[in-house]
Amino acid sequence: MSNTNSVINIAIDGPAGSGKSTLAKRLAKEQGYIYVDTGAMYRAMALYLIRQEIDPGDAEKIERACQDVDITIDYVNNEQVVLLNGENVNGLIRTEEVSKMASVSSANGRVREKLVALQKELAKKRSVVMDGRDIGTVVLPNAQVKIYMDASPRVRAKRRYDELSARGEACDLETIEQEIIERDHRDMTRENSPLKQAEDAVYLNTSELSVEEVLVRMKEIINDRLGNGPDTTYGEKL
Ligand code: DC
Repeated sequence: MSNTNSVINIAIDGPAGSGKSTLAKRLAKEQGYIYVDTGAMYRAMALYLIRQEIDPGDAEKIERACQDVDITIDYVNNEQVVLLNGENVNGLIRTEEVSKMASVSSANGRVREKLVALQKELAKKRSVVMDGRDIGTVVLPNAQVKIYMDASPRVRAKRRYDELSARGEACDLETIEQEIIERDHRDMTRENSPLKQAEDAVYLNTSELSVEEVLVRMKEIINDRLGNGPDTTYGEKL
């Protein structure tokens, strides 16, 4: 085990819209752990490539970009802030353009090598809830708790649709669902660290569950895995 006893690592993986970040954030708060959103790091890298007009298929330029770019994370009021060469880019990395570029550029082995090293380092020193696509399989193979969250493409598209609509952005459910299916396919079939459930991860389908219901289930899984006794008794024990 690479973890010391006092450091707890909780690894959460799953496709876009499965509820990972909402739940990971809530869990981290309740457990008093640091939340690490690894997708935001791939998004910051993607933003850099877009700004530099680098084609994600250009291996030489990607290699140089990995040498030039400095991506770090910091915490302000307990919120993760991603710094791209020192600039806070939190407000710039949630666009569809960045999402698409991140999905393509995160398949690059050199990009992954750079960001995985940073992620491993973060989890060594402090208890974390880390979410992404390869956390249980590659980044934190020794995590004490691994959860693979999932939901049907339709449900995930509807969640995204509701989010965009609430922001007053025009969108179309069918198009969003199609984009989600394409992104899943890219994330699951790439050669480097494809999205897949770690063998020792607990599978959690959130399609029919509310955020609060998922949170209860996750806490049961954590208690169970950390050996605090499975918290699965409802009602008074007879
Ligand atoms: O979770 P997200 O949508 O913010 O992730 C953005 C992209 O980065 C997504 O296409 C998958 C990729 N990603 C990855 O390859 N590995 C991770 N650990 C996290 C995200």
